[in-house]
Amino acid sequence: MIDAESLRGDFPALSVGPGRGPAPVYLDSACMSLVPRSVLEAVGEYYTDYPGCAGRSLHRFAEEVGHRYESAREAFARFLGAPSPDGVVFLRNATEAINLVARGLSWTRGDRVLVTDQEHNSNLVVWQRLAAERGIELVHLRLPPDGSFDAEAYERELARGIRLVSVFQTSNLDGRSLPAREVVERAHAHGAQVLLDGCQAAPHQRVDLGRMGADYYALSLHKMLGPSGTGLLASRPERLEPLAPLVVGGETVEWTSLTEHRLRPPPHRFEAGLQNYAGVLGAAAGLRYLERTVGLDEVEPHETRLNRRVTRALADEPRVHPMGPADPAARPSIYSFTLDGVDPNDAALFLDEGYRVMLRSGMHCVHSWYRERGLPGSIRASFYLYTTPEDVDTLVEGVRELLSRVPAARAGGPRAGARPETPTGTSARTGGSRGARAGRAPGRTAGS
Ligand SMILES: Cc1ncc(COP(=O)(O)O)c(C=O)c1O
Repeated sequence: MIDAESLRGDFPALSVGPGRGPAPVYLDSACMSLVPRSVLEAVGEYYTDYPGCAGRSLHRFAEEVGHRYESAREAFARFLGAPSPDGVVFLRNATEAINLVARGLSWTRGDRVLVTDQEHNSNLVVWQRLAAERGIELVHLRLPPDGSFDAEAYERELARGIRLVSVFQTSNLDGRSLPAREVVERAHAHGAQVLLDGCQAAPHQRVDLGRMGADYYALSLHKMLGPSGTGLLASRPERLEPLAPLVVGGETVEWTSLTEHRLRPPPHRFEAGLQNYAGVLGAAAGLRYLERTVGLDEVEPHETRLNRRVTRALADEPRVHPMGPADPAARPSIYSFTLDGVDPNDAALFLDEGYRVMLRSGMHCVHSWYRERGLPGSIRASFYLYTTPEDVDTLVEGVRELLSRVPAARAGGPRAGARPETPTGTSARTGGSRGARAGRAPGRTAGS
């Protein structure tokens, strides 16, 4: 069982002391996780001990970093149950991984791609663009609000002919998971390939790609203790082979002449130019921390306990509406909710300024879902291995205080958002909240 309190000392961003004030309550791990000290050390070690370019120079720095970079690839392949390290491509983030597949496959007008109606923009916009540019057809599978999966509706779409299913494994909006293996098996039975967006799944639960059978798996490593701007695409080398690289140049070729070149085999043909060695080695240190110091199998049970705690504590507040499945065990890492009468961005500012609670408000990059329902967004608390019961208690306390300041009479759904004063007075950060509602504050608007 995870003792989050004792792990917190490993995370410098959670430290307290002179000049830092009381401990922050970080409930935004679905956006980006915090990094343990060992990750920072691994990043620093690269620059101090072997700051070379892997695969180019022959000197000892380059040899050392090359060796470590490929060991990191092996470690992530093992972690994901990928058939071969050559199927792991290091990229900047999951968005780039999804774009690599979308832009890399060769499409014929009329090819159909299935997504759900709850995809992150990273798994939506690129398909919309391909529809406009190459004439693919985008099919939306509507998900039942209770978190269940409508296998019949899915089968109906598959039967009409789908080339690629591209869906989340776990939703960043409400934490629900799709039955990944079933999604893949049914798709394969109809001859469709599957790209899974694993951003909110792999940091929390064991993923066995060999068993699950997904053709492509996109992952952000900065959501699982890695440095920002690190991610990967995992697949089989033979599935990567037909993809056209997104970017070409140095590192991607075996040779060039003045008029021709030959690409290297996967994964190297997709890693153009000098790579983010520090980031990848940091991410590998994060993986070691997750597996050896904590134990991946402990993460979801820990998050479920926290989620039960907050769900239960706010169950008697009629103005609090949790989203997604009713059972916290079906959405362990995320508690997403709306508050009658309070704009989600106002709530986030109130909680940050009054309670040091940092969470996400707005549309969480799933604008399409909220717009279909005419909602301005929600408030999302997300948990990870360093989240403590005290953190969620502080959230509950803050929400209760907020509701007490916004009279119920003014309540009428989140659209009717009244602007609460923070416990310390009116927020100086008016641009974010008011601007978000008026659509004027890009830096803090919903869903960016
Ligand atoms: C489900 C999901 N997919 C894709 C992304 C995009 O990830 P990245 O910003 O690493 O590209 C996110 C980020 O929040 C996400 O939650």
